[in-house]
Amino acid sequence: MSKPTIVVMPGDGIGRVVTDEAFRVLLEAGFDAQLVTAEIGWSCFVRDGDPLPSRTIELIREHRIGFLGAITSKARSAAEAELAPPLRGRGIVYRSPLLTLRQRFDLATCVRPARTFPGNPTNFVRRLADGTIEEPPLAITVFRQNTEGLYSGVEWSDPPAAVREALALHPLFAPFRNLGGRDLAIAVRIVTREGCRRILDDAFRYAERDRVPTVTLSEKSNVLRDTSGLFEEVARDVQREHPGIKLKTVAIDALLLELTRRPEEHPVIVASNLFGDIVSDAVAGLTGGLGFACSANLGRDVAIFEPVHGSAPHHAAFPVPIANPCAAILAGCLLLDHLGDTEISGRVRRAVAAVVAERRVRTYDMLRLAASPDAPSRGAATTRAMADAVIARLGAS
Ligand code: IPM
Ligand code: MN
Repeated sequence: MSKPTIVVMPGDGIGRVVTDEAFRVLLEAGFDAQLVTAEIGWSCFVRDGDPLPSRTIELIREHRIGFLGAITSKARSAAEAELAPPLRGRGIVYRSPLLTLRQRFDLATCVRPARTFPGNPTNFVRRLADGTIEEPPLAITVFRQNTEGLYSGVEWSDPPAAVREALALHPLFAPFRNLGGRDLAIAVRIVTREGCRRILDDAFRYAERDRVPTVTLSEKSNVLRDTSGLFEEVARDVQREHPGIKLKTVAIDALLLELTRRPEEHPVIVASNLFGDIVSDAVAGLTGGLGFACSANLGRDVAIFEPVHGSAPHHAAFPVPIANPCAAILAGCLLLDHLGDTEISGRVRRAVAAVVAERRVRTYDMLRLAASPDAPSRGAATTRAMADAVIARLGAS
């Protein structure tokens, strides 16, 4: 197999350090790849007015596999104020380049596999009626539709007249008709049969391969009759092609409640974009937190892997980085799986599991400490120490 080239986009804030540490671990584990670094994020936006340089897009188009650290996003007014002075007042609007990448490369499937690592004190626990506490091992994979829904980007503050007229075709728009100017903002939830089909196909195939008996579709069809209705209709079609797998349809609000009680009943969850965003954070909270949450954005030609966490700009200024690198390391494992390097990814995952099980090296999040510069003096491992511990375990596992 020829050596793959990975487009590495460290991005902003803690994205940089966790990316460095993740690749240090992967290379130590024997991953043989050419790495090209590409710029992305807030620093590009502030400098050039564009968070996604065209060179980065070209590199991804050419090499087709990317790794993203994290990106800072700020509100519209803050974005304008931080732009380089010559760029201000030109109506330049910030949009997360992650969303642009997902749409530009048609990365329609977002897979977020979460599992508990025994020994992590932040794992989900349940108190039984007799007062005993149990900690069920969890493995929950969220399949999030990644390009449509409320993330379509079709949004207006002060919608133009033609949009208002079109909306007035709907009788239920009547109460909003006379709202003028910026008193009205509209976002469009776009759901396509093709988009539903792709995410559901991926989820059912995964369930079949991993012998998972059920797929849970989490929509809200009692309210969003047309958009969620289409999702559920396609889910029933896809289920018929996989008679061995049961389809559970649970409304998103009910699912979040069930996840707080019996999360093991939903090993594979499919959701539209925003619901998938929300439910994947909830699942992360049950399985060790964002310090362990990894993500794959998959298209037909391109795949981009990332930790789910953000850039945590306030951490980035700490003299010694304290972010948990495990999410980035596990995102690296997804990248290796994608390339077929499962021997190495398996070894890295076992090394992470061994470090957590040893209960000696723990980052601040695992100790439930505040993210503060003095976390190491309270017993928290630094980013580097955690990565070192994983590397030390590579051989042993
Ligand atoms: C995620 C993040 C992104 C999202 C943000 C950073 C745009 O929360 O990947 O879950 O909302 O999709
Ligand atoms: Mn999110």
